[in-house]
Amino acid sequence: MREQRKLTDSYWLRTAPGPSHPTLDGDLDVDVAVIGAGIAGLSAAHELARAGRRVAVLEAGRAAGGVTGYTTAKLTAQHTLVYDRLRRTRGTEGARLYARSQTEAIEHAAALVDELGVDCEWETRDAYTYVRDRSRVDEVRAEADAAREAGLPASFTTETGLPFPVAGAVRVTGQAQFHPVKYLRALTADLLAHGGQVFEHTRVTGLEEGEPCRLTTGAGATVTARDVVVATHYPVFDRALLFTRLSPRRELVVAGPLGDGPDPGGMYITPDENTRSVRTAPYGPDGQRLLVVTGEHFTPGTGDPQAGFDRLADWAQAHFPGVTLDHAWATQDNESTDTVPLVGPLHPGARHAYVVTGFGGWGLSGGIMGGLLLTALITGEDRPWRELYDPRGLKSVVREAPSLLKTQAEVARHFVGDRLKPPASVDDLAPGDGAVVRSGSGRLAVHRDEEGTLHAVSARCTHLGCLVSFNRAERAWECPCHGSRFAVDGTVLQGPAVKPLERHDLE
Ligand SMILES: Cc1cc2nc3c(=O)[nH]c(=O)nc-3n(C[C@H](O)[C@H](O)[C@H](O)COP(=O)(O)OP(=O)(O)OC[C@H]3O[C@@H](n4cnc5c(N)ncnc54)[C@H](O)[C@@H]3O)c2cc1C
Ligand code: FES
Repeated sequence: MREQRKLTDSYWLRTAPGPSHPTLDGDLDVDVAVIGAGIAGLSAAHELARAGRRVAVLEAGRAAGGVTGYTTAKLTAQHTLVYDRLRRTRGTEGARLYARSQTEAIEHAAALVDELGVDCEWETRDAYTYVRDRSRVDEVRAEADAAREAGLPASFTTETGLPFPVAGAVRVTGQAQFHPVKYLRALTADLLAHGGQVFEHTRVTGLEEGEPCRLTTGAGATVTARDVVVATHYPVFDRALLFTRLSPRRELVVAGPLGDGPDPGGMYITPDENTRSVRTAPYGPDGQRLLVVTGEHFTPGTGDPQAGFDRLADWAQAHFPGVTLDHAWATQDNESTDTVPLVGPLHPGARHAYVVTGFGGWGLSGGIMGGLLLTALITGEDRPWRELYDPRGLKSVVREAPSLLKTQAEVARHFVGDRLKPPASVDDLAPGDGAVVRSGSGRLAVHRDEEGTLHAVSARCTHLGCLVSFNRAERAWECPCHGSRFAVDGTVLQGPAVKPLERHDLE
């Protein structure tokens, strides 16, 4: 058995630590409260502050410390193979609006980088979706055609710059890549300069809609706001049951200096091999490049992430032999059943509460687009793609019915099936491992640390009650139903759960 890969913090967070922001410890009244300081929340807050609104951002952890801090950071309107699907599900006009809205977001970010003089390693690059499997070439040709029809500078090619041959690829020219955390640090500084406020370690636990809306935090503070934006990645307030239309997908990342090998020069993704996504970035003072490789996705709480890290690292080393992989991390995104993000009013009756979620692995352009769209909705403007992203309405539910049913069948399978699995025994737990064991009529999630001490928490996810499962590579409890994640002491690492797993003493 191979030695367990040591996980690191993300390269982006390590190289842009940023200032800390206060915790909210008193009551507050603002025009707009934004919950969540990822790219979606900070983009919305920044635009709204520049539009003259009094804005407060409430962040449970550190700003940019959510999914956005752990991404691959390509800024492209090419989203793997989305356009051929969109023209079938949303028509040619829907695909065109998608391409225009994502392109506008990237152009907006480029303009901000220029205007604010942001040093975020912005580089213009061509984006490629490639396949090596010959049987998929027609899919790629259709995508090139659909992306071009949607208005993108797209073409079919077999020349990619990668150090291995491909069977076919879609190239979209003039896209970008950047350092996402440096970008968000600069946006936050400008937000503060426009009178905005950012609070860290301030988890929002209650939302009462009204005029004004009222938010409560875990520490008991109250925020009143005319409008509220729920930008918590997976929506933590969810009267419209959006969770039924979102599937979590966890993915692994390895990175390190490229060494002497040539920089392939583009941004790459393939749906083959359980996804491989590749880019490089500036690294160190001597013109070196950092290689970032992403892939091996799985549903949280399932699979063997350790084996996935090994496969991803082997792949990176086989194709880029000079690389030294000194970073490894993981993160997850939510895919909507329609593959289109959900951006707009939180539920059919919502007048002042908005949501932005469901980016399906493309939430950098999507988060910026979402921030712009929500700013337009809140300030009474319109955008041609408002309806495309609107999370409300029966039409979308009908269109999504097959994938929605599949998602729910998967959840039901976990809810029932995981309870039928034979429970493990505490005695069999090796140091570093965890398992669900029976305790009276219930189940406990038990972890044995490296010193041999046992830590027990309820195995029932505090979101909707599915059983959690242990991710040994990341030392975390994960829920396969909607992707909530918990530390070994039960603390919430990632929603939709907002409450910790209850701690138990082991008898
Ligand atoms: C491996 C991987 C690679 C990716 N690469 C790319 C890429 O190259 N290009 C691209 O476009 N997209 C990429 N994505 C997708 C993209 O990173 C995400 O879609 C995007 O970062 C999501 O941003 P967000 O603001 O919605 O979420 P987050 O960045 O997670 O922000 C949400 C914030 O809300 C906070 N929060 C949660 N609950 C509460 C609460 N109750 N109170 C207060 N705060 C709360 C969280 O702490 C968090 O900071 C990738 C995704 C993955 C998994
Ligand atoms: S995340 Fe929904 S039940 Fe656990």
